[in-house]
Amino acid sequence: MKKFLVNDTFIDEKEVQLSIYDRGYQFGDGVYEVIRFYDGKYFKLKEHLIRYIESAEKIDIDTEFDLEQLEMLFNELLEQNSIENGYVYTQLTRGNAPRSHIYNKEELKPQLIAYVEAATRPISLMQSGATAILHEDERWTKCDIKSLNLLGSVLAKTKAHKEGAFEAILHRGDIVTEGSVSNVFVYKNNKLYTSPADNFILNGITRLTILDIAKELGVDVEETSITVDFLLSSDEVFTSATVSEITPIIEIKDKGLIGSGKPGEVTKLIQAKYDEKIKQL
Ligand code: PDD
Repeated sequence: MKKFLVNDTFIDEKEVQLSIYDRGYQFGDGVYEVIRFYDGKYFKLKEHLIRYIESAEKIDIDTEFDLEQLEMLFNELLEQNSIENGYVYTQLTRGNAPRSHIYNKEELKPQLIAYVEAATRPISLMQSGATAILHEDERWTKCDIKSLNLLGSVLAKTKAHKEGAFEAILHRGDIVTEGSVSNVFVYKNNKLYTSPADNFILNGITRLTILDIAKELGVDVEETSITVDFLLSSDEVFTSATVSEITPIIEIKDKGLIGSGKPGEVTKLIQAKYDEKIKQL
């Protein structure tokens, strides 16, 4: 049976009890993380936990645990569950209280939960590539916070799915921001482009790893605003995220193929380096 982490206690899945007054449930008042592990070892655990703490701070939630304590708890979570490949989902909410928009920190104890989920790597999608739709970015303007409020992403990703596409690439007017659950990279005229890590995107841990890889490969990178037309006329497009890793986008529905309509050569080089990093764990 799965063991869940609830604050600092490990509990059998069936024994977990959460309050319906949890502000995460009623207001989406909290933050979350998704962290991969391969062959029983975490990939970028520290980076995810730092972002977790930063996201909590940005919405004025004081974390009960510091980085070191979280690392210990998350390592223990893997030990308590016999899953070798998958991810951890964790969320931290502001706590339980009678419903009111106003929160009073003195009366609230933040609630942390975490559990593991088995998942294999999406090898065939990474090799074949996927399609995407374009969708107006209808989310709020604090997308740098990994907040539990995911309605904008939920609606956009579901629309993509209903239209037979893998991802919704979001744009505010002419400017591409990111995917509904991923960051977006564009390769054009020997240069890799991605949106700057401002308040309009989540600064993905996979994104940051790809920026390191580009440096290692000697690929020129520019973190700058990308227009929709620029993306549509680019040589290669790919998305990045913890669970889906690096997905070549070979076609934008109703707009046409990206490049030759096959995963691009630079995308493949970056995927290979990412693969190396996973195997080096
Ligand atoms: N989402 N941008 C958005 C809007 C995301 O939701 C995600 C990931 C990313 C990529 O971040 P990272 O590389 O750190 O996973 C970018 C997760 C995985 C999710 O909601 O399931």
